[in-house]
Amino acid sequence: MSFPFTPDLSFPLAPQAPGLSSRPLIQPAGCFRFKDEIVQEPLHQSSLKSLPLIARGKVRDMYAVGDDKLLIVASDRISAFDVILDDPIPGKGAVLTQMTEFWLNKLAHIIPNHSTGVDPADVVAPNERDQVAGRAVVVKRLKPVLVEAVARGYLIGSGWKDYQATGSVCGIALPAGLKQAAKLPQVLFTPAAKAEFGAHDENVDFDYVVKEVGRELAEQIRDVTLRLYTEAADYAATRGIIIADTKFEFGLDDQGQLHLMDEVLTPDSSRFWPADSYAEGISPPSYDKQFVRDWLETQVWDKTPPAPRLPEEVASRTAAKYREALDRLTA
Ligand SMILES: Nc1ncnc2c1ncn2[C@@H]1O[C@H](COP(=O)(O)OP(=O)(O)O)[C@@H](O)[C@H]1O
Ligand SMILES: [Mg+2]
Repeated sequence: MSFPFTPDLSFPLAPQAPGLSSRPLIQPAGCFRFKDEIVQEPLHQSSLKSLPLIARGKVRDMYAVGDDKLLIVASDRISAFDVILDDPIPGKGAVLTQMTEFWLNKLAHIIPNHSTGVDPADVVAPNERDQVAGRAVVVKRLKPVLVEAVARGYLIGSGWKDYQATGSVCGIALPAGLKQAAKLPQVLFTPAAKAEFGAHDENVDFDYVVKEVGRELAEQIRDVTLRLYTEAADYAATRGIIIADTKFEFGLDDQGQLHLMDEVLTPDSSRFWPADSYAEGISPPSYDKQFVRDWLETQVWDKTPPAPRLPEEVASRTAAKYREALDRLTA
């Protein structure tokens, strides 16, 4: 990985997350009626012609709106074991978009964010509105801070691996004898260097962040990250969801003011665990992707693209879990 790299949001060729380029559109965007409810057809990839495409990420497609805003379209793509699957999860993009909006509002007293309030339907052509309905946002185009701001309340994933090897996580020493998935004695800020497309993010220590962005901004990012996580995790716990860890992204506006951007506290940017099946000493099942992961584990597959096609049953059960997480948090 080459880091740091200069953020360039005006790529001549829109970069794409690996594995997306040769994939045909599985289903066109549109709506259909089901039991008198308007249901959106799953969208694997948006194809707006009225705005310049900037990039396609693993899940979201970014378009320029003028020179100071972005349209971010959350598709229904899902990735597992870092591979983007061919089969969309119906409703996933809308759930992620609504969940982010919920948290941005709830946490707005802590830090300004990238929301503009502009209706996506107003910035695309009339025949493209189906593609953005419920799943897109128009945001301030910020200069990304190239640090993934991770907060961890539990010892899992790369934190658990790091702890087993070194007794600390990202340079923060922890008491001996902690078990996998243990609740940490205090919430940790464990930043990662934002990897370029396709590469894994790399855990770094706080001094690295200071070197990258300066002490003042580094401390602000750390303090805000810990406050955002703590408030959100406390709230989610009252709804039966453990937010084990999460990743925030920040950006600077023209005045250099720090903003929260990207998706916020979704199952894609966080580890959500159902509180009722939590236990130490194991890797608790994830709220959302467990059906997909469990099913993929039963397949003969080397975890490189293309992934096996998902049975309809697995896709619809996964869709229901995403929806359930949103309902639990926002109902
Ligand atoms: N307000 C914003 N200004 C500039 N860039 C943003 C903003 N919000 C999100 N982004 C960027 O848009 C991209 C979102 O696409 P995503 O599918 O999450 O990509 P990735 O595969 O990198 O996770 C990320 O690169 C994120 O940093
Ligand atoms: Mg992302």
